[in-house]
Amino acid sequence: MDTYLLDWANLLLRWLHVIVAIAWIGASFYFVFLDSSLTPPKGNNPDRVAGELWAVHGGGFYHARKFAGAPPSIGAHLHWFYWESYATWLSGFALLAVSYLWNPSSYLIDPAVASWSNTQAVGLVLLYLLGFVLVYEAICRYAGKPGSGDRAVAAWVALAVIASAWLTVHTFSGRAAFLVTGAMMATVMTTNVLFWIIPGQRRMVASLSAGQALDPMPGLVGKQRSVHNTYFTLPVVFAMLSNHYGFITQHSQKWLLLLLIMLAGALIRLFFVKRHAYKLGRQPHPWPYLAASIGILISMVVLAAPTAPSTSGAHVSGRLSDVQAVMQNHCLQCHGAAVQLKNVRLDSTEELKRHAAAIYQQVVVQKAMPMSNLTQMSDQERAIIAVWFKSGAPTQ
Ligand code: HEC
Repeated sequence: MDTYLLDWANLLLRWLHVIVAIAWIGASFYFVFLDSSLTPPKGNNPDRVAGELWAVHGGGFYHARKFAGAPPSIGAHLHWFYWESYATWLSGFALLAVSYLWNPSSYLIDPAVASWSNTQAVGLVLLYLLGFVLVYEAICRYAGKPGSGDRAVAAWVALAVIASAWLTVHTFSGRAAFLVTGAMMATVMTTNVLFWIIPGQRRMVASLSAGQALDPMPGLVGKQRSVHNTYFTLPVVFAMLSNHYGFITQHSQKWLLLLLIMLAGALIRLFFVKRHAYKLGRQPHPWPYLAASIGILISMVVLAAPTAPSTSGAHVSGRLSDVQAVMQNHCLQCHGAAVQLKNVRLDSTEELKRHAAAIYQQVVVQKAMPMSNLTQMSDQERAIIAVWFKSGAPTQ
């Protein structure tokens, strides 16, 4: 496909994906907040209301109620929440397809990690997405019963995430590994809605309409899955944004960094969930969760700090002609006369001078360029750029 059209597809799909994801996560956060902020009604309670919440928003007052078991009747317009989730997955998968799967050799494959063929790389992405869903389903089925075995299930799910991150980091380029790990978790979030939460709710509605007693199991399963979804949310959002940050996705300890940020995200979410209960006096202040996540993030800043490349021992010069040779061999196919990705062109001395800081940042500090090190640039060649930049980026 024409790269121009591909760029449009990328733009429109990304826009759509962010919008529907906001709608999904917004609704999901709202219901988690609602659930943990409900207070028992005062006085007589003939309708068996388990909890209620008064809220004011957008110039009006709202009164939400949750029933313990079956409500006396269901309104004619029962609202379901599922399109937000399905649309997020569909647009996300389409975006993955037009950016990563369409162009596996630029985005998915890093020859220094593994030299897959294009077909193999695409096949592996699909296999990992499906495989994670199956492993997760097996864990939920066998590791513990919903309601009583939630902790065991959560521990196994955490282990599965750790293993998946390890696997992707050892399969794909850094940025693809982060994205695919996020996509694996996001796929589980949507299959939870598609295969468990919504069908369970349909069964509940059907038995209510038939006047039967409510079976609590679909409710318990749905609750367990939505709790997982809540704690997946911030880790997944980070994974989706991470490909802007080469200093993490290209880092030699990227697996650890990915897991630490995901852990911090889950703890931040936990802090907010517990805070609702704290406000109602049901729990101590959850500040330790926030403190732990901030501690993790600070330790990451220290851990991921770039080490300056050694330029001393290596016999490299920072001569312009050497820099130009490096550009010729490693950069101009994507930033030359024919193609200028990200509007960066590096085939003249003026352009080299203009982009000197960005080149140093991308090549030496982040090692994000050449993209996925496709052209197998050596450390010696990176050192040439470092010496050139540090001596003031001379243009003659
Ligand atoms: C295979 C194609 C490819 C090669 C080879 C390549 N780049 Fe890039 N470059 C890209 C793409 C794609 C982007 C946009 C990346 C993004 O948006 O995350 C980019 C972005 C950049 C940017 C802008 C970064 C920013 O965020 O503003 C600079 C600077 C850059 N490249 C320099 C280089 C240098 C120097 C080399 C050679 C050492 C090089 N590139 C080799 C594809 C390539």
